[in-house]
Amino acid sequence: MGELRGTHVPVLLERCLELLAPALGRNARTVYVDATLGLAGHAEAVLQAHPNTVLIGLDRDTEALAHARVRLARFADRIHLEHAVYDELPEVLDRLGYPAIDGILFDLGVSSLQLDAPDRGFAYAQDAPLDMRMDQTRGVTAEEVVNTYGHPELARVLRVYGEEKFAGRIASAIIRERERARITSSARLAELVRESIPAPARRTGGHPAKRTFQALRIEVNRELAALETALPAALDKLTVGGRMVVLSYHSLEDRLTKQALADRVRSKGPIDLPVELPGSGPTFRLLSRGAELAGEAEVAANPRAASVRLRAAERLDPEAARQGRTDRERYRRRVKAMHQPGTGSPGSARDPRSAPGDGSGTDEEGEGT
Ligand SMILES: C[S@@+](CC[C@H](N)C(=O)[O-])C[C@H]1O[C@@H](n2cnc3c(N)ncnc32)[C@H](O)[C@@H]1O
Repeated sequence: MGELRGTHVPVLLERCLELLAPALGRNARTVYVDATLGLAGHAEAVLQAHPNTVLIGLDRDTEALAHARVRLARFADRIHLEHAVYDELPEVLDRLGYPAIDGILFDLGVSSLQLDAPDRGFAYAQDAPLDMRMDQTRGVTAEEVVNTYGHPELARVLRVYGEEKFAGRIASAIIRERERARITSSARLAELVRESIPAPARRTGGHPAKRTFQALRIEVNRELAALETALPAALDKLTVGGRMVVLSYHSLEDRLTKQALADRVRSKGPIDLPVELPGSGPTFRLLSRGAELAGEAEVAANPRAASVRLRAAERLDPEAARQGRTDRERYRRRVKAMHQPGTGSPGSARDPRSAPGDGSGTDEEGEGT
């Protein structure tokens, strides 16, 4: 393991701690998963705040794990650091003997360690072999992607994962260039992208190669497919009162997170039934109001925070969720009765603003703490 290159400032750290605290601080021993351990900034703060919490830290990058192990050495008796892709979480938990967990954090994307590494090919600003694998022990490299994908596939990757307007032109330039000579370096690729983009567009939206490099990184690491599998699997492992926090940096990551949570916070029972049928109620409640952003001060201090979107949710007690619906239904009927002449007096209905169960049990907008 080399010297640590640069530092990685954990994003929305205080908010993550605040959201996780009720789930991790409640029992003698709680189990917390950091699905994207990285340099363990978030993990260290959680371990410090919760002396009875056991950490299971996953990362697909062996270099990140080695640095995390040094950083967390003083917590050695209550940490398990695992080389794994986060969609392997159920197998990791089985192997370690933890049937359920109390909290989990996903801090998606790359770490500064990876971005700043001159030899890993993530950065368009540094010349390096076109690798971009977070796990350098397996998988295809960015060099294989740019030298073997056909035009439609390359253009799709750049357009969808990079939201690149000039995806078709860049894909054509890549294919022309590789017929001349194999593209092997990040500097050559960055130059090709710059040349493919019309001059006026080069002057806006940051470095012209930024979106192409992001797209290739997502493709090489199959990031979205892994996330799509990992989120429901992680939700399934949470105990009642257990909490999940997700920090996304790409609109597609945030969309997958939103969908995974939406599926759990809605009742699946018939909308007009006054009671929740067994097994049809919401299993989670949102803790965030929409997607939360970082504040101006944090973005000024840490540019990585500029694109973050935080979403969080808590597993509900099924009985409480059912009761919440019954209370809401009683309240709805009382309000309806108030508006029907001859049924009750205005004073007999409670103030709607303090109605029991109103919004707290299954509030799809979140608690907005
Ligand atoms: C943004 S960094 C995490 C930083 C960390 N929260 C901290 O405070 O230092 C993301 C980390 O997640 C890892 N990672 C990304 N996708 C992964 C996946 N599918 N499975 C496991 N680890 C992944 C990356 O290798 C990287 O080290």
